[in-house]
Amino acid sequence: MIPLKNPEAIKRMRESCAIAATVLARLKAQVHPGITTYDLEQIGRDLIASSGARSACHGYQLHSRRYPAYTCLSVNEEVVHGIGSLKRILRDGDIISLDVVVEYHGYIGDNATTVAVGTIAPRAAELLKVTEEALYLGIKQAVPGNRIGDISHTVQTFVESHGFSVVREMVGHGVGRTMHEEPQIPNFGRRNSGDKIKPGMTLAIEPMVNLGRFEVRTLADGWTVVTADGSPSAHFEHTVLTTDSSPEILTVPRAS
Ligand code: MF3
Ligand code: CO
Repeated sequence: MIPLKNPEAIKRMRESCAIAATVLARLKAQVHPGITTYDLEQIGRDLIASSGARSACHGYQLHSRRYPAYTCLSVNEEVVHGIGSLKRILRDGDIISLDVVVEYHGYIGDNATTVAVGTIAPRAAELLKVTEEALYLGIKQAVPGNRIGDISHTVQTFVESHGFSVVREMVGHGVGRTMHEEPQIPNFGRRNSGDKIKPGMTLAIEPMVNLGRFEVRTLADGWTVVTADGSPSAHFEHTVLTTDSSPEILTVPRAS
């Protein structure tokens, strides 16, 4: 069953998502050559703490492991779930995905972006642009009358038309009181397949796109997912609310 949110839950989702987006925007502003991912992790942790929310990543359990950090910071060939480290110094030409998930008053907001560090190669710049555009094209499909597969198919078709590949092993998801609710939202699939989209769903849509092949593997730390071929990977994510018409993107920073 896909939970539909009532007005009270929607109000709470708006709040948690606005916090997640504000933290992400502020963290993004700190990315520059020379900073370590450890520094970014500390900044992210502090931003979340001062927002009054808590990190939904820290302590998140998967296969009896608990995620040790407060944010996910994934550089170059790292796809998702990278853990900040003093040894990882950002260099001119790198790309880094920042993923911020917070819980506030019992509801989760989930968003991610990928940023260029200094000047990056043209194909890497294209990777970021195509992945972000795929996210927005996917979001546009989240309307009543469509099914989840319409989001998946649209993302995949657009990404592959640019010669990039979509990651199969991780997917977008419903989000609400917990980080991962039904439905799963793959970034590949067939039109008119999967669950019907109805108003009141809150969905985290998150294309993960590799410059090279789609295969990934997990490092010995049990978390960091990297591309099997070592090619760079990008990740953009929003939490959206489905309505009678166009979806509302909830992960936008609140003016304050
Ligand atoms: N945006 C990611 C997701 O949807 C965040 C998970 S981070 C983790 O799965 F550390 F908690 F795994
Ligand atoms: Co997510």
